[in-house]
Amino acid sequence: MTRRNFLKFSGAALLALTGAGLYRAADQGVFSTAQGPAYEPWQRWQGESNEGLVGLISAAILSANPHNIQPWQFRVQQNQVEILLDQTRNIGSIDPFFREVYTGLGCALENLVQSAAAHGLKSTVSLLPEANQPALAARVVLSKDTVKESPLYQAIPNRHTNRSAYDLSRPVTLDQITRLESQLEGPDQHIFWFSSEAQRQAFSQASLTATEIMLTDKEQCQDTHRWWRQDWHAIQNDRAGITLDAQGMPVWMSAAAKILPDMSMDDNNKQWLDGLRTRTLPNTPLFGILAVRDSRDHTQQLRGGRSWQRIHLQATLDGLGLQPLNQLTERADRENQQMLDPRCGRLLADLIGNKDWQALMSFRAGYPTAPALPSPRRAVQDVLAA
Ligand SMILES: Cc1cc2nc3c(=O)[nH]c(=O)nc-3n(C[C@H](O)[C@H](O)[C@H](O)COP(=O)(O)O)c2cc1C
Repeated sequence: MTRRNFLKFSGAALLALTGAGLYRAADQGVFSTAQGPAYEPWQRWQGESNEGLVGLISAAILSANPHNIQPWQFRVQQNQVEILLDQTRNIGSIDPFFREVYTGLGCALENLVQSAAAHGLKSTVSLLPEANQPALAARVVLSKDTVKESPLYQAIPNRHTNRSAYDLSRPVTLDQITRLESQLEGPDQHIFWFSSEAQRQAFSQASLTATEIMLTDKEQCQDTHRWWRQDWHAIQNDRAGITLDAQGMPVWMSAAAKILPDMSMDDNNKQWLDGLRTRTLPNTPLFGILAVRDSRDHTQQLRGGRSWQRIHLQATLDGLGLQPLNQLTERADRENQQMLDPRCGRLLADLIGNKDWQALMSFRAGYPTAPALPSPRRAVQDVLAA
């Protein structure tokens, strides 16, 4: 922790000892972590027996998704559920070609299919079923089947992105890596792993470079900050975005940060870079890049999302933490969009080292040193399309 941060957090700790500090702590949810309406969806993830197909959406909305923007709507009709891209919920310049939002929709689709099987329903999935409607990401036709409750389904309420330091003394085993790889949709997907000291250094340095460049791009900073939610009332109201609780900080540190006033965009950026450099990247035994043949193709993004969700559920079962780290791909997309020198594009290509594959998601994996907390979610009735 920097000296400046230490002084800030000490100040917050002192403030907390006063009456006003206690009031502020209670008002900002210090004593009600992961509680309140924004977190209720994690308790009712199996839906209610009288909800029919709407009940399946309770699991879908708990999937991983970029910046927790939850870019989805669900349309339920007789024997089918459609997943639609909600274009009003976006990360703008962070995702100029919608790579991440379609990947996130693929994650939601996977949870939906897992839930359907556990409810005795067989899913017949069509991706992008109407050529003239790209926002219609998937149609899932459901028919009666035997109940198939997979361990992955059981892991749905326990899967959370873990941004804590990972334990360097406990490497991810080859068996675990094989189990993660077995979640891939097919041979048109591949994971590149970075586990040796030199490989991890190369991945970390490239990610840091991408982050530093991103922090010089005002629009990307603003689009990131738009989805930062610090105020407890805003979290309960919007039920979306990235929160302090999801940062994987020690409990005392996030409590102190909650007591302090909302962080400015600049402060937030500094914390992010500092955390990456000193805590996250150096404390990671394994990095990976999930690659596809064409990372701009929406079908491949959706299929990649399905794989990512299963990989994360499997990691959860294995006690592993996962955190996507997509600054490299986000910068490479931005370079393409703005026709800039493809510096991050080259860094990514060098890491992959094989022209036949393109990065869809980069991530870190390992045994976490702190449990991950849930992030807020909108209620099912708020994501139903007409
Ligand atoms: C396509 C995609 C990209 C993501 N990129 C990042 C990232 O770069 N850094 C990060 O910390 N988390 C990233 N995430 C994780 C999301 O922020 C996370 O899934 C979301 O906030 C919901 O939290 P949960 O996974 O704990 O439910 C990404 C997730 C997806 C699906």
